[in-house]
Amino acid sequence: MKKHGYFQLAREDVLQLTEEYGTPLLVLSTQQVESNYKRLRRYLPRVRVHYAIKANPHPEILRTMIKLGSSFDVASDGEIRLLNGMGVKGEKMIYANPMKTQGGLRACKDCHVCKMTFDSKSELDKIAKILPNATVLLRLRIDNSGAHVDLNKKFGAGREMALELMQYAKSLGLDMAGIAFHVGSQTVMADPYLRAMDVAREIFEEAEAAGLHLRILDIGGGFPIPETHGTFNLSEMLKQINARLDEDFPETDIWCEPGRYICGTAVNLITSVIGVTERGGQPWYFLDEGLYGTFSGIIFDQWDFRLIAMKDSDAEEVQATFAGPSCDSLDIMFRGCMTVPLEVGDLLLVPACGAYTSASATNFNGFSTAKYVVWEQIKD
Ligand SMILES: Cc1ncc(COP(=O)(O)O)c(C=O)c1O
Repeated sequence: MKKHGYFQLAREDVLQLTEEYGTPLLVLSTQQVESNYKRLRRYLPRVRVHYAIKANPHPEILRTMIKLGSSFDVASDGEIRLLNGMGVKGEKMIYANPMKTQGGLRACKDCHVCKMTFDSKSELDKIAKILPNATVLLRLRIDNSGAHVDLNKKFGAGREMALELMQYAKSLGLDMAGIAFHVGSQTVMADPYLRAMDVAREIFEEAEAAGLHLRILDIGGGFPIPETHGTFNLSEMLKQINARLDEDFPETDIWCEPGRYICGTAVNLITSVIGVTERGGQPWYFLDEGLYGTFSGIIFDQWDFRLIAMKDSDAEEVQATFAGPSCDSLDIMFRGCMTVPLEVGDLLLVPACGAYTSASATNFNGFSTAKYVVWEQIKD
């Protein structure tokens, strides 16, 4: 099912699945998850992958990643305990939320998670109180306004604070082990990673001169998926990152925290048109999935989804508005979207919608979240 270089259902499969399971339906390919993981490992062979489960914590994705030997990036007590319940050892997790809750720190203690990031002295005080032997990485702020989602508006210590914070960590008796950064989600070129590595290299040297030996560099997530955001050359990008790691960090343990890259291309949504109307001379199509469901990524991830009508039509495409099923007027996903004219019952396929979609879906207004099926378990 990989005509497009990643998982995309054929029309006949969409029709058959709809008949069997109804819509809205999310179809997950664990094989795609596996090939995404293996591709990253192939291009970045020294890098230990920590899947950022916030992107999509579906149990079959987690099971696939566990089977592949991945480590995990967790951000809350819930994520730590979820993985612990699936048999993942604490040593395979990094608590990569620079702002930790007491519940999160207690979960670390209970589940033996001892690696974490920080970006302030007050966070170090909290960590040292509950986990005095923790291994800590300084989360560095990286300026990358070009990222699709710039996480550095919220997290990361400025470069000028690095040495002072690291020395403070050491003075508390913590294992001050390295530097972490996140260049921003869906970063489509190597430059921001390379610039961040330049700064990290400087800090490694500054730390060494001050008697602090750093041994871990965590290059975060941000690796892009091919979909609606223009073209880019992923293999070239990863080759450049890998070459720089070998050049500047030959002896360092390298970690990464991909979320979107692992799961984004592994899920397709099938949704139906449940209502049609016309406003201001434009058709409006109401779908059985909306902003409070899988399309929550439009709000929380600023993502632009691609809709493919599963209909043979010679009619000319028109500009239309697509809205969700809830009674809320905010629940409008796309305006001025080109489509062939649609009718109630027509089906739309949304490929590459595995990251930051079902993870943030709600039951608002009493609507169930979209059902998941695993493609490899049901095909044939
Ligand atoms: C600390 C951290 N690591 C990793 C990720 C995953 O990022 P991405 O999905 O862009 O790979 C995030 C995303 O929010 C994050 O906050």
